[in-house]
Parts: sequence; structure tokens; C-alpha cells
Amino acid sequence: MWGTTVDKTDDPDRPCAGQRVLITGGCGFVGRAAVAAFRRLGAEVTVVDQRPFPDDAVHSVVGDLTDPALRDRAMTPDVTGVVHLAAITSVLRSAEAPAETFTMNVEVTQGLLELARQRGIEQFILGSTNAVVGNVGTATITEDIPLRPLTPYGATKAACEMLLSGYAGAYGLTTTALRFTNIYGPGMEAKDSFVPRLMRAALAGTGVQIYGDGTQVRDLVHVQDIVAGITAAWQRRFTGTAIIGGGRSVSVLDLIAAAREATGAEIPVEHIPAKTGEMPAVIVDISRARAELGYQPSLSLADGLRTVWADFTAAEATAAEANEVNTADAELTTSGQLR
Ligand SMILES: NC(=O)c1ccc[n+]([C@@H]2O[C@H](COP(=O)([O-])OP(=O)(O)OC[C@H]3O[C@@H](n4cnc5c(N)ncnc54)[C@H](O)[C@@H]3O)[C@@H](O)[C@H]2O)c1
Repeated sequence: MWGTTVDKTDDPDRPCAGQRVLITGGCGFVGRAAVAAFRRLGAEVTVVDQRPFPDDAVHSVVGDLTDPALRDRAMTPDVTGVVHLAAITSVLRSAEAPAETFTMNVEVTQGLLELARQRGIEQFILGSTNAVVGNVGTATITEDIPLRPLTPYGATKAACEMLLSGYAGAYGLTTTALRFTNIYGPGMEAKDSFVPRLMRAALAGTGVQIYGDGTQVRDLVHVQDIVAGITAAWQRRFTGTAIIGGGRSVSVLDLIAAAREATGAEIPVEHIPAKTGEMPAVIVDISRARAELGYQPSLSLADGLRTVWADFTAAEATAAEANEVNTADAELTTSGQLR
């Protein structure tokens, strides 16, 4: 009937229909997976990033988020809420450029929160990190551990969490800080973390260097589980902080063994002296995420690594094909005739 609107949110297959999610950093590793997840739930998505989003079905706003005019342009009145993932994400870079990290991580978050407040956009989810707690030795990290970040990266994310808390308290915004552990999964070819290094070594038939004896433990979480945590926080309108991790820690040596199994490659190891500040352990308790978000990590490390390996080998095959085409083109140009 003319003039009536269908409440699409009643559709169990598309529970986010009729909503628009603004995803900052939507072209990044987690961002691309988050865009896909929200679209599967029926949401419209706007991505704001330095690069254009490579799919016309997504509204893409391109530019630098430190520019207030860009934030203003991205946060259209139909935006239901924000998933804020854009950041300076490298600990090393944050230590080299602390002022730039403050501007990008803290000022941008503040600017987005303020626009959300002014425009009545009620929901705001931040991609945070367990780096906000610093080094707690082998203690289990919960959301209640005091924040003692040891890097500008960790410090700026801690500051962002405080801003979220203040905006929830003063203005009733639904704000969520999700503290991610080490994320791995398809789409991380551009990254320089340990899992992609293992994959590159497996492809090239080379090895990897590890700091110390390799008994230090880490929590790894698959990107598919990360986006399940984000969408659950969105749908449940959860306000507060929750750790999203794999919920079990593995040693670097165990990780290498799992990568050998997933790739079938030997991946020899060279032990080098541990860096100062190398954390002996990252062990997290994910019981709050389980209780509040119904979060449940779904992939074993072995299965998860197989998804990354499949992605790396597919990318390698595409690159090899492109190389063949280029060689053929070069031959055509030099010889002037078809092969
Ligand atoms: N990847 C992890 O293991 C991990 C762990 C803990 C927390 N996090 C957090 O999760 C979020 C997403 O991480 P990721 O691994 O997808 O990062 P990423 O570096 O792959 O993606 C970040 C995206 O933000 C965009 N961006 C950066 N600066 C920008 C600017 N000035 N203007 C516009 N766009 C800008 C980049 O172009 C990029 O597409 C980050 O906030 C990060 O701190 C990630």
C-alpha cells in the first residue's frame, strides 16, 4: 500500500535491513571482512577510507579521516551507527610518530563521536586492542585489568576507550570497545605480522626468524570470529568493553607447527635474541564476550591457517597468471607477432 513502510528488520535472514553502517577503514584487513558480514545481514554500508572501496554496491567516501570535512561528508543523516576501524595500527610506526598517531587515533575518534552525538547517531563500535593493558606477564587479561599501555598505539586506543565511555555516560550513546587479540585470516597479504610471514616463507621455501626460544604464547583469533563479535555487539547494542580473542593461547613454536601442517612446507626456524619488551605471554579471558555477545570462536587454529594458506596460494596463482600475460604482451611488443 502506498505510504506504508515495511519493517525489514523483522526478516530473520536480514536482521540489519533498513540500517546503514558507516565503516571507517573498510578497505583494510578487518574492514573488508566487516563490510561483507554487514551486507550479508542486510545492512547498507558506507566505507570511509584513503582508498576507494572496490565494489559499487558500497557507498565509498575517499580521503583522510583527519580532515573534518571528510568525516562530515561520510556521516550522512541515514547512518545508523559507526564501526570505527581506521587507525594507525602499527606499534612501531606509533613509536616513531607519536603525535601523528594521537591525531589519527584519538582526535579522529573524538571527531566521529562528536558528529554522532550532534546527529543523533546512537551506536559506535571501536576496534580496540589488548595493547591497552601493557605487559602483565603471564597473568590472564580481563576487561577489568588496569590500563598501563607501553606504546603510543596502546595509549591512544586506551584514550579512545575513555572517550567512548564518556560519550555513553553523558549522552547515552551505545558505545562498544572491542579489544581484539592477534587477528589472522584471508585478506592479510599486505600485513607484516607473523602468520603472513609464515605463509610467505612457505610459498618461497624459506624459513622464519623467531625471537628467543619460541615458548612465548599468543592468542590468535580468526578474522571471521572478529566480525562475528562486531556484528553481535551491533545487534545486541552492547555498551562497554569486551575482549574478542581465540580464547586459547599457543606458543610461537606451536604456531609454526600448525603452519607446517596447514601448508605442507618445512618452514625452517632461526632463533634470534628476544627484543626488549617482548611479552612472555598474551592470555585472555573471553568470558564477557561469551556472556554478553553470545560470542563463540568457531575456527581451530589448524582450520584457520588453512584458510590463510588457500588465500595466499590463490593470490600467488593470480600473480603468476598476470605475469604470464605480461610476458606474452612483452613478447608481442618486441616480436610484433602473435606467438
Ligand atoms: N589486525 C590486528 O591484529 C588487530 C589487533 C588488534 C586491534 N586491531 C584494530 O582493528 C582495526 C582494524 O585493523 P586492520 O588490521 O584491519 O588494519 P588495516 O591497517 O588493515 O586497516 C586500516 C584501514 O584504515 C585506513 N586508514 C588509516 N588511516 C586512515 C586515514 N587517515 N584516513 C582514512 N582511512 C585511513 C587504511 O587505509 C586501512 O584501509 C584497527 O583499529 C586496529 O587497531 C587490529
